[in-house]
Amino acid sequence: MKIKILNGLVVSAEETYKADIGIEDGVITHIERKARTATADMLPMFEADSEIDAAHHYVLPGGVDAHTHFDMPFGGTVTADDFYTGTVAAACGGTTTIIDFAIQNKGESLKQALDKWKQKAANKAVIDYSFHIAITDLTDDILAEIPQMLDEGVTSFKLFMAYKGNLMSADKAIAKVLAQSGKLGFLTMLHCEDGDAIDESVKDFLAHKQTGPLYHALSRPPELEEAAIARAVKMATNGNLYVVHLSTEAGLKHIKKARADKLSVYTETCPQYLVLSIEKYTEKPHHKRYPVPKDVSPLPEEFEGAKYVMSPPLRGKHNNSALWQGIADGAISVVSTDHCAFNYYGGKSLGKDDFSKIPNGAPGVETRLLLLYSEGVAGKRITINNLVEVFATAPAKLFGLYPRKGEIKIGSDADMVIFNPERKFEIEQIKLHQNVDYCPYEGYKGTGAIMSVLYNGRVIYKDKGFCGTKGQGRFIKRDKFRSSIVQ
Ligand code: URP
Ligand code: ZN
Ligand code: ZN
Repeated sequence: MKIKILNGLVVSAEETYKADIGIEDGVITHIERKARTATADMLPMFEADSEIDAAHHYVLPGGVDAHTHFDMPFGGTVTADDFYTGTVAAACGGTTTIIDFAIQNKGESLKQALDKWKQKAANKAVIDYSFHIAITDLTDDILAEIPQMLDEGVTSFKLFMAYKGNLMSADKAIAKVLAQSGKLGFLTMLHCEDGDAIDESVKDFLAHKQTGPLYHALSRPPELEEAAIARAVKMATNGNLYVVHLSTEAGLKHIKKARADKLSVYTETCPQYLVLSIEKYTEKPHHKRYPVPKDVSPLPEEFEGAKYVMSPPLRGKHNNSALWQGIADGAISVVSTDHCAFNYYGGKSLGKDDFSKIPNGAPGVETRLLLLYSEGVAGKRITINNLVEVFATAPAKLFGLYPRKGEIKIGSDADMVIFNPERKFEIEQIKLHQNVDYCPYEGYKGTGAIMSVLYNGRVIYKDKGFCGTKGQGRFIKRDKFRSSIVQ
């Protein structure tokens, strides 16, 4: 199959240029820059089976979302999106590769966790996928199993400083993994919130009958993220540290300092921490479009904030601007989604009398590009090249997928987004493909439109609809972490 994409504005993390792109059997084989005059050594572009006219549109590399949770048991329920609905939503949002978390249960080997998650994704995923492993039970045997996982193409491991009594690891365990990451060449991903302090504060609020969604946020204030990041950076002197879902300006200062000190420290933030803020926990719902489903009891208006219960929680607005600035100046390497969707009815409602029982997480895999473009590029907070960096190139480099993924390059997988920078959009849950009964950005009006998405050289999204095939996604083995290719 041969396809040409003509006259588009191709965007990389460094530059934007007009070019025709040729694709053969899923791989980019030609990039003909328009400004160049033809020379004898230039390979002529082939006759294509089909052509896409991308004039006046950006051609972006397909997104790499390095943080999703599909089909994950959590908080007494399971996430609403599995590897089919979740990857369809990702594809419709311009993402063509996801990295999900295989969670190690207590007593399980890493291989068991990986195999379980591979099974969940096989025959369902519609885009390429890979896994990090979330280590929740570190023993000497587990530490010794890491090299085998690197051979299997799993080159990043997450540990939690929060979720006491469940996922949380002690600092000793974290330090051991960090030390190994430096020696063996992988990334140690850390959820940085002080789990002991949070546990105390949750008990305190509940004892005072403060049970609503706002207390989720108040029980895990910014200082507890900052303190955990400070601890993490201290342990990272010989390791490769990647702080997940950064939400605070205070935390970002520690990351900046560590990077200035030449430590191998990186961070991601997520659209929710760039666009939303703590007011969401108490705001009156402004959208009444969606009626309460049949056979469920309505929830009180004051519970609407449960839709935003995630960890870390939403913060004061000044953090939004500090995080945008962090992207613009390169301190924040990646914007991923932490897509962890729970239905409002039947999921979030588990915590209607106790915020600590609200399953943590929110959807976002389908709206990442639109929000980054609209708020970031159209809002003049970042450039289109910054967008490509955090959306595709940097996650591909950090997580061992580059150059196959993350950039429009000869030899790379033909994963691309044709993007109209002028069109207007409104986010409406009903039009999205994710399998969850609400969207945290309901009613958001912005600029930009995803016209089509190519995955592996085939159009899988056009005319606002998914047109790929269930199970076409491939498991991708990732390379080891290489500090020489990341910034
Ligand atoms: O609230 C969140 N973020 N849920 C997903 C699990 C995690 O900590 O990433
Ligand atoms: Zn986390
Ligand atoms: Zn997560």
